Amino acid sequence: MGNQTVVSEFLLLGLPIRPEQADLVYALFLAMYVTTVLGNLLIIILIRLDSHLHTPMYLFLSNLSFSDLCFSSVTMPTFLHNMRRQVPSIPYAACLTQMYFFLLFADLESFLLVAMAYDRYVAICFPLHYTSIMSPRLCLSLVGLSWFLTTFISLWHTLLMARLSFCADNLIPHFFCDMSALLKLACSDIQINEMVIVILGGLIIIVPFLLIFSSYSRIVSSILKVPSARGIRKAFSTCGSHLSVVSLFYGTITALYLCPSADNSTAQDTVMAVMYTVVTPMLNPFIYSLRNRDMQGALGRVLSKWVIQLSLGQ
Ligand SMILES: *[C@@H]1O[C@H](CO)[C@@H](O)[C@H](O)[C@H]1NC(C)=O
Repeated sequence: MGNQTVVSEFLLLGLPIRPEQADLVYALFLAMYVTTVLGNLLIIILIRLDSHLHTPMYLFLSNLSFSDLCFSSVTMPTFLHNMRRQVPSIPYAACLTQMYFFLLFADLESFLLVAMAYDRYVAICFPLHYTSIMSPRLCLSLVGLSWFLTTFISLWHTLLMARLSFCADNLIPHFFCDMSALLKLACSDIQINEMVIVILGGLIIIVPFLLIFSSYSRIVSSILKVPSARGIRKAFSTCGSHLSVVSLFYGTITALYLCPSADNSTAQDTVMAVMYTVVTPMLNPFIYSLRNRDMQGALGRVLSKWVIQLSLGQ
């Protein structure tokens, strides 16, 4: 309660673009955001409506789509709105709220990817016990645990951020309230924040990565034990999409950490941030539905049901 927040609002400087490009960039981001929302909504609705897709894998996927949808909705509407304004300001409380939900859905995605990897591991290594192991109760517990952990972690970061005082500088060279951009502006001691970021960040990135990696190494070794064309094809068709999403997620994160920014390379940071806040959530639905027969079949069934209902209704 004792902190004196001098800064009552921040200015989000947005993307480093020239004024004459602003309209084009606005249109591009609007299109990407609309695609993200529609693509992920379509997946959620299809999985809800089609009973063939009421399996653990698709319920996790539906959760992932929900998380992607929320994740991009945390940043994109504010960003698009700010691009149309003279003064792209965001109140202090709104900024912290945005940071909280940004972390919440980013971490949720990471945990859901682990649950999905475990699901694939059980499906391939214990096909006969799949339904008894991946019971609805276990699925719900995995999703619940993910929500619990991510709520707790992002709350911790946000409370630590709320302790800090911000004095004069309120310019955020970013298009949303990014935690590290905010830390650079703080004028109190940020040592604890940085320590928690390193520890929890490691926990959220490395532990899930190791779990996913060990799931996949067991999948590969179980396929290599009895190599058959059919087994390999089955593994590829059920794991391919998940593996692509995992690679996209961890590829972006790795690139972010392997190319540490110098003080002035905010442009590069921002491009990477665009990559994981806009592009990744947009691509996930396509990765899952383009090459996936189940999803295409479900789309066909749901559409034909609607057409029949419409024609009967008239
Ligand atoms: C998330 O997963 C749980 C457990 O499998 C499921 O009951 C729930 O319907 C899913 N939620 C969404 C939004 O798909």
